[in-house]
This record gives sequence, C-alpha cells and structure tokens, in this order.
Amino acid sequence: MPFVLTPLITHSFTTPITGMIELEDAAAPRIESGIAAVSALRRYEEGHQAADLEMFHAHQNDMGYGLLASRHAPNQDVTAIPPEQIQSVVEQTKPDILPNVFVTFWSFRLMVFLGVFFFVLFAMASYLSLKNQLERNRLFLKICMWAIPLPILATEFGWITAEAGRQPWTVFERLPTFMSASTHSVSYMLFSLAGFTVLYSIFIAVELYLMFKFARLGPEAHGQHDHGADADHLSIVAH
Ligand code: HEM
Repeated sequence: MPFVLTPLITHSFTTPITGMIELEDAAAPRIESGIAAVSALRRYEEGHQAADLEMFHAHQNDMGYGLLASRHAPNQDVTAIPPEQIQSVVEQTKPDILPNVFVTFWSFRLMVFLGVFFFVLFAMASYLSLKNQLERNRLFLKICMWAIPLPILATEFGWITAEAGRQPWTVFERLPTFMSASTHSVSYMLFSLAGFTVLYSIFIAVELYLMFKFARLGPEAHGQHDHGADADHLSIVAH
C-alpha cells in the first residue's frame, strides 16, 4: 500500500519495498556463493589448504544460504552436488528463503483484529462504567465473559506471527531452522511433550477448581470475619 506500508516499514516515503519474487531472485547468487562457502570449508577441514580458506573467507557471509541449500543436495551434503546441478539446486532453494506467507499473514491479522477488539471493548466498558450502567448491561457482560480466553489466543497468534515470520532462520542469514532443530529422538520428544502436557493440565485443573470455588463463594464470603472466611482469604492470597 503506497505511502502507508512504506513509511511503516522503512520510516521513509520513498524506499522501495522488495517483493517476494525479487527477494527470491536476489537470493540466488547468495545461495550459489553459500554452496561455495560450505564446500570450501569442508575441503579446508580435510586438507588445510590456504586456497580453500581464502575461498571460504570470500563467501563466508553467504554460508547460511549454502546450509539452506543442503536440504536439496544429495544426502543433505552440498559438497556432493555435481557442478552441472548447482543451478537446479539454487532454483529449488530459492522459495525456501521466504516464510509461509499464509500462516504469517493470517496470524498477524487475527492478532491485530483481537487487539483492536480489546480496545473497543475497554472503551465501551469505560463508557458504561462512567454512566453507571455496566452491571445492568447483560449483553455486554456476556461478551466480556466470552472474551476471557481471547488474550491467550491473541498471544498465541502473536507468537505464531513472530516464529513463522522469521523462518527459515534460527539466526538470520546464518543458521537455518532445520539445522538447529533438536537431535533428540522422536520418542524422547514425545515423552517430554507428554510430560509437560500432563503437568500443565494438572495445573489448569487445580487453577480452575480454585477459581470456581472462590467465585461461587462470592465477595461476601471475604467480608465475614469468622475463622473460616479468614482461612479462605488467606488461601486466595497464597494462591
Ligand atoms: C493493534 C494490535 C497489535 C499490533 C499492531 C501488533 C503488532 C505486533 C508485531 C509487529 C509483532 C512482531 C512480529 C515480528 O516478530 O516481527 C507482534 C508480536 C507479538 N504480539 Fe502483537 N500486535 C497487536 C496486538 C497484540 C495483542 C492484543 C496481543 C496479546 C494479547 C499480542 C501479542 C503478541 C505476541 C505474544 C507477539 C510475539 C512476541 C515475540 O515472540 O517476539 N499482540 N505484534
């Protein structure tokens, strides 16, 4: 969007925004150069030849792109790519430099939509509260109740935006995500994930139990100064 997106991203009115196809095309020489960097480093590790080290230094800034290309190389090894196939590996790697646009596009918009919704909700709540009508507006109170999980959703969408949007890099232009992924076995990962899921499910069950218990007791329960109410109050504070 001219004069809207440009200043938002670049803080200037004239800087061009590079399109996806142009980004892919601009990456092609860097992928080729990265393949040269990874190959030179591998040769240097084996033979310690000064020429290989020099070659590596000449291409080292693109090494991340070479690592990115390894997904399309035989046995994930860019040094094993026959010279006549390098261009085809470069073409296959080009689309990998962009994140999944659908996921980033929609998770960002859902997050922002929810952010705007919260703003409107709080503006309405302030207005109704100032007019002393908040407690009597059943529809608004119902909307507020149903809105309770929405900040968690917005946080998840924000997190998805950030994580999906920075793909394919763990370290931008240096380390591709697939190379930094855990080397643990699938069963180990499933075991630890299941452990966390069970543990946090217990936490939420306890939390919900306590929330419902004290919500049902109502605010009056805290005003009474008999022994039982004090104990309840203390446990809320502790909670
Ligand atoms: C007008 C509304 C909003 C705007 C314009 C906005 C904008 C952004 C932007 C630009 C990012 C960074 C994405 C990136 O990494 O490049 C982000 C991330 C994030 N947003 Fe929002 N956001 C909005 C509302 C919200 C709301 C309402 C929540 C939660 C209640 C939220 C939670 C997050 C989270 C958790 C992240 C990820 C942070 C991280 O892991 O780096 N956002 N948001």
